Amino acid sequence: MQKTFLEFFAGIGLFRLGLELEGWTCLWANDITQDKFDTYAANFGGEDFFVGDVWKVNAGDLPAPAALATASFPCTDLSVAGEREGLKGSESGTVGAFLNILHALRRKKRAPPLVVLENVVGLLTSHEGADVRGLVWELNRAGYTVDLVLIDAVHFVPQSRPRVFLIGVDDKLAPRFFTATSSTCDELEFRAILNESHDLRPRVVRDTVMSSVDLRWGIRRLPKLPTHKHRLADLVEDMPDESPHWWAADQVSRLLSQMSEKHISTVNIWKQADSYRYGTVYRRVRKTGSMAELRSDGIAGCLRTPRGGSSKQIVVRAGRGRVDARWMTPREYGRLQGVPDSFVHSDNPTKAYFGYGDAVCVPVIRWLASKYAVPALELVSSPRRVGGVWGSAGARSKVRSHSSAGAVSGSSGRVRSDKQDVACANALCESRNRWKLWSIHKRR
Ligand SMILES: C[S@@+](CC[C@H](N)C(=O)[O-])C[C@H]1O[C@@H](n2cnc3c(N)ncnc32)[C@H](O)[C@@H]1O
Repeated sequence: MQKTFLEFFAGIGLFRLGLELEGWTCLWANDITQDKFDTYAANFGGEDFFVGDVWKVNAGDLPAPAALATASFPCTDLSVAGEREGLKGSESGTVGAFLNILHALRRKKRAPPLVVLENVVGLLTSHEGADVRGLVWELNRAGYTVDLVLIDAVHFVPQSRPRVFLIGVDDKLAPRFFTATSSTCDELEFRAILNESHDLRPRVVRDTVMSSVDLRWGIRRLPKLPTHKHRLADLVEDMPDESPHWWAADQVSRLLSQMSEKHISTVNIWKQADSYRYGTVYRRVRKTGSMAELRSDGIAGCLRTPRGGSSKQIVVRAGRGRVDARWMTPREYGRLQGVPDSFVHSDNPTKAYFGYGDAVCVPVIRWLASKYAVPALELVSSPRRVGGVWGSAGARSKVRSHSSAGAVSGSSGRVRSDKQDVACANALCESRNRWKLWSIHKRR
């Protein structure tokens, strides 16, 4: 099978950029936003792109079977800053259209062997975990065993951007692909392997998995995430003092007046230095008024979309006896997402901020491609190993069929306490009910 993919919720195409840099070819893409498509087309061409609502996509419209489908679906209803409607919300709920398509492709025997879904960490806590459990349950029903990792872009670029990735691997490959699966391991062994990779599977991930071990989870043993050495100062645009980007003195004074004493003293120490130091600032509205919060560790805060104009990031430069401030530029947004300067973004800064603020971080995608997508694809084409633990008929036979009510049915032979069984059954009922409610909501 070729390294090909379908890109749902494509935005400006940073999933595509990461995958293309790893030698993958995009067969088809979709997004509803014209502005984002314009940027996408400027960089990749727009021939195989459907601009429109994902609910209108039919599985039959998709080109030849692809090895991978990606879905970086909207976070609007999952973000802790929002109303938290969760997957019932009209925007984050669009993942339901993606799942419908996966089910249809499975029926047509054209389902990709690998799927990758991306979203904010709020996905794990939305409706006390019921949303993510419902999502994994649906992926199980579509024939995938699912791994869950949390990757902060700060391992690759100087931006704090934790995101969760659900990686679904075709059930037929899962026993050979994963180090452990909840279907083939006893619970102690599974938990031990899950606990190994703390940087990729911090507590919130481990709790999500262990609160629903009757879903079909798979854990792939992965190397540690890299340590990124670059700092914000390495990628800020070099702007002369007279550049109109720098704010006037009264605007800078107003910003400083909104900082806490601790942050002002940091800026004052920097000001005395012989060279410039850089920090980033977000304005936040507190009960006491607007506060300017300085980040001084050489790492930018998470890029966001500039809704209401308040979430644009500010760059502060201090040293050589002066303090300056300006808005972070779209090019700096791009660099913080791991995008080369040759990437074309909108001339309209607000549109460019929107594109980058919503996007995935390119080197994170490259890392995932090398650790998941390539090895999964190798398995698709390699003959089944006979006799090894993961290739043995015994291990495979423990994997429950996704065509049954799968996620909870069947006996796994694991040693569990009654209390655990009840807790797990409750959690699954709750996710299924939520999911049903959500599907009914979508059909209306
Ligand atoms: C998190 S962003 C994806 C960003 C993308 N991965 C990137 O790197 O640029 C979610 C995307 O979903 C798109 N979207 C929202 N509702 C949609 C719908 N009903 N149909 C198709 N796309 C939709 C938005 O326009 C947005 O670009």
